[in-house]
Amino acid sequence: MTRGLLEGSTTLVVGGATGIGRGVVERFVAEGSRVVVVDVDTAPLGGIARDLPRDVVVLAGDATEPAVAGMAVSRAVEDFGGVDTLVCCAGRFDFHTPIGSLSIEELSAGFDEIYAVNVKSMLLAVHAALPELRRRRGSVVLTVSSSAYHPDGAGVLYGSSKYAVRGLVAHLARELAPEVRVNGVAPGGTAGTRLAGLSALGERRTVDDVPGRGERLAAGNLLGRAALPADHAGAYLYLAAPDLSAFVTGAVVNSDGGRGEPIGGSMDHATSAGVPAAGVPTGGVPATRGARGRWSTR
Ligand SMILES: NC(=O)c1ccc[n+]([C@@H]2O[C@H](COP(=O)([O-])OP(=O)(O)OC[C@H]3O[C@@H](n4cnc5c(N)ncnc54)[C@H](O)[C@@H]3O)[C@@H](O)[C@H]2O)c1
Repeated sequence: MTRGLLEGSTTLVVGGATGIGRGVVERFVAEGSRVVVVDVDTAPLGGIARDLPRDVVVLAGDATEPAVAGMAVSRAVEDFGGVDTLVCCAGRFDFHTPIGSLSIEELSAGFDEIYAVNVKSMLLAVHAALPELRRRRGSVVLTVSSSAYHPDGAGVLYGSSKYAVRGLVAHLARELAPEVRVNGVAPGGTAGTRLAGLSALGERRTVDDVPGRGERLAAGNLLGRAALPADHAGAYLYLAAPDLSAFVTGAVVNSDGGRGEPIGGSMDHATSAGVPAAGVPTGGVPATRGARGRWSTR
């Protein structure tokens, strides 16, 4: 029988109940890791506990609260003996909201909410897991976004928060070396997740509620289809598995289907009016190359 790449290890996944984080949980368990999942969304957490009862412990909690990651680390130590890998996936989106459309109060509240979830939750989790990560010479994988490379992928709140996550990768890699490696995965726009808007702005949609998003994502990368959560799990696995990436730290893997210049164009414009609960767009929507090599859905 072949050994999994993460056999005997323990992973803490913050924001792992749905979407990209859930894909990481499933892939890491398949590779032999035991996993503690923390998430604020309790319903899908129950599903994970039912589906993977032997290898996964779930914990309901808001990762922006300072005590939550500490409780998760304690569970990992008690139940599985420690933490080898920390994966941070919790996130909120800004639906491309321009700064000029917000009142000063909305801007302030929106900033506080998105930076708390997208940035602060990661710092809190790293801080809580640090003694264990140092003891086990482990690693951290943070979820960046192609919006940290291409400002057309989001509004200024989300995009700048993901630029900040790139900064966390660079600074933490330097601070925590040589004991702990710190890297990131930057997914491109991904379908089949529940990435939600900011409650501070009264947003109730998730990204997949936006009509035509799957088609636009497919048209905005070289591979001609929208990514699904499982498409990114291998990038996280590569960065977590010491056998694959022992000498990699401070790096970000762009898991974006080849997004970038000269593809250009708008990637993920989710500003359409209305909230048709259209369900989850699937991948596989073909894209065509138009004049001058630009991708289009026509
Ligand atoms: N979906 C995309 O197009 C896309 C593209 C690039 C990057 N990302 C990033 O990937 C990560 C995962 O997003 P996703 O698209 O899978 O969305 P998702 O909503 O399915 O997954 C995010 C998870 O984080 C949880 N979460 C949110 N706030 C939390 C909090 N305060 N405490 C604990 N858990 C919390 C959610 O409940 C959810 O389970 C995010 O960081 C997102 O910014 C997403």
